Amino acid sequence: MLTGKKIILGVSGGIAVYKACTLTSRLVQRGAQVKVVMTESAQEFVTPLTFQALSRQPVFVDTFDEKDPSKIAHIDIADWADLVLLAPATANVIGKLANGIADDMLSTVMLATQAPVYIAPAMNVHMYDHPAVKKNMKTLEEYGYSFIEPGEGYLACGYVGKGRLEEPETIIDVLEQQLRSEATLKGKKVLITAGPTQESLDPVRYFTNHSSGKMGYALAEEAYKAGANVTLITGPTSLQCPNNVKCISVITAQDMLKQVLEHYDSSDIVIKSAAVADYRPKTIEDQKIKKKSDYLSIELERTTDILATLGQKKKDQYLVGFAAETQKAVEYGRDKLDRKNLDAIAINNVKDEGAGFGKDTNVITFITKSGKQIEMEKASKNVIAKKMIELIVQDFEEVRF
Ligand code: PMT
Repeated sequence: MLTGKKIILGVSGGIAVYKACTLTSRLVQRGAQVKVVMTESAQEFVTPLTFQALSRQPVFVDTFDEKDPSKIAHIDIADWADLVLLAPATANVIGKLANGIADDMLSTVMLATQAPVYIAPAMNVHMYDHPAVKKNMKTLEEYGYSFIEPGEGYLACGYVGKGRLEEPETIIDVLEQQLRSEATLKGKKVLITAGPTQESLDPVRYFTNHSSGKMGYALAEEAYKAGANVTLITGPTSLQCPNNVKCISVITAQDMLKQVLEHYDSSDIVIKSAAVADYRPKTIEDQKIKKKSDYLSIELERTTDILATLGQKKKDQYLVGFAAETQKAVEYGRDKLDRKNLDAIAINNVKDEGAGFGKDTNVITFITKSGKQIEMEKASKNVIAKKMIELIVQDFEEVRF
């Protein structure tokens, strides 16, 4: 899996730097191209020359050491990488990354890269357990970074506990496993919907809901990481289009229906996480409605159920719906799975703590037509999305082949 992969190995300053030497050597032996970027503190433990000899590549240590005037070194290598591995990652470098600080070569590369990032922390057990470090790691997880947890045992500082940089072979196993699962959607087209729709009443007012788009955007990011070609059809949100994803903005349920149908035939997998309006005002007034009496009745009409339409038109697509419920969530979700002819459904009870609209986390029961039911405990929407993509890939392969 590693042959030909372009890997940046970020090395920050801790005693575990010696293991990064073995890591470099093992990665090169497996056919990867490795460019090492070191912090100043890392150079207190091992010199850049060691990494240069092991990687047979120049080592990057100084943002201002621009050797080639036609390039800006930190951007150039950030763009070059297929994958970034930060090992060992100290509490300091994790803190900088979580807070967007870029004051040396390693931190500028880390912020500039769009490649998937794996972080293998190494530090004293109490530092690892410190709430500030935990919080920074959680933030990074929410940004989509993956962690390779440290091992437990005797630490160089004399303590026994969790904080030891994971062994190079284990780190490589994790990367290989990840690359294998990333390749799973290679060549597949994934269509995702996200966010709310807005249904106008008059030139100043509209009906909408609390969807922020976070769940759908996280799914788009994770589907891209799994190798898919991703199109995201999104209602109005304040989120930025994820890197390498084609985003199409829509406002109303009708706009979303049109765009989804245009892309449906060429899609392999469709995930409908958008919170689409079920009703819209029957007429949109040309002029602002003026206050007259104490009560105002507005006549609403049904919008088209996009998901049900897709279920009816389904050929080979693997179709995943969501169900946002407030009671009997699994019962109602199962009903939607059958009624809308879906392959799977992600059910969230939006009254559960940490679940549903606007939150950074979700709690999901994932049910497939093929008979699986997986409970996903409260976790960040990125973690939930990653798990969902893995389950979809697994079920898609079992059902289709
Ligand atoms: O965006 P976030 O703030 O991150 O919140 C995430 C979420 C709560 C919006 C998401 O997890 C979620 O539950 N999305 C589905 C919301 C919803 O509309 O659920 P529903 O049970 O009303 O609809 C069932 C399914 O039918 C959904 O896949 C929906 O996209 C689809 N539908 C509904 C109505 C309609 N007219 N057309 C549709 O396609």
